[in-house]
Amino acid sequence: MADGRLFEDVDTYINSLFAGPDAVLDRAIERSAKAGLPDIQLTPGQGKLIYMLAKMIGASRILEVGTLGGYSTVWLGRALPEDGELVSVELESSHVQIARETLKDAGLSRLCQVIEGRGLDEMAALDPYFDMVFLDANKDGYPAYLRQALRLTRPGGLIAADNVVREGAVLQPSKVDPNAIGAAAFNQALASHPQLEAIILQQVGIKGHDGLAVARVKD
Ligand code: DHB
Ligand code: MG
Repeated sequence: MADGRLFEDVDTYINSLFAGPDAVLDRAIERSAKAGLPDIQLTPGQGKLIYMLAKMIGASRILEVGTLGGYSTVWLGRALPEDGELVSVELESSHVQIARETLKDAGLSRLCQVIEGRGLDEMAALDPYFDMVFLDANKDGYPAYLRQALRLTRPGGLIAADNVVREGAVLQPSKVDPNAIGAAAFNQALASHPQLEAIILQQVGIKGHDGLAVARVKD
């Protein structure tokens, strides 16, 4: 079996082929690091993946929950058409500031709006329909976010969620890891919901071992 180093090297190879150097994204990482934000944004390849998912469904209205410094927001914003719209919700005001700077730098301020607030409260205040909802905030909130995402996503639309494997912690969600409990409950809900078709893409690479859930709301 391949070791972690090989997974990282192949991830780097894939990223360099399909999500190579990008001045705006490089500055986004730099800006976040300088401001002391946690270094937990998507990898370049993961960013490319959510960008492609958004484009493939022709998403023109996207909701993101958990902006962090706006790295994933740039990827999603770039998938939008000229008249598209992205709303991203972030709890931490310092993150919101950085994300807004990053979106300005990316030329996406007109299309992409960052709302400061609690994910669940802000989702509850939004009106349907979104073509795509991307969840990447606190994982213990994922089950509740999913209920709102189901209300907000149009038939045929897409719900995606980062960090649903957590190095396998979802296999034995210990009572002391609310994130693993949340992710496991989310995965179970995704698998059993009559209105959804879903799968988890297990991912290994420069960000360790995790997974991206992808669900389609039935017509
Ligand atoms: C964490 C959060 C994330 O969204 C992520 O992609 C990786 C780690 C965390 O809170 O530890
Ligand atoms: Mg994440």
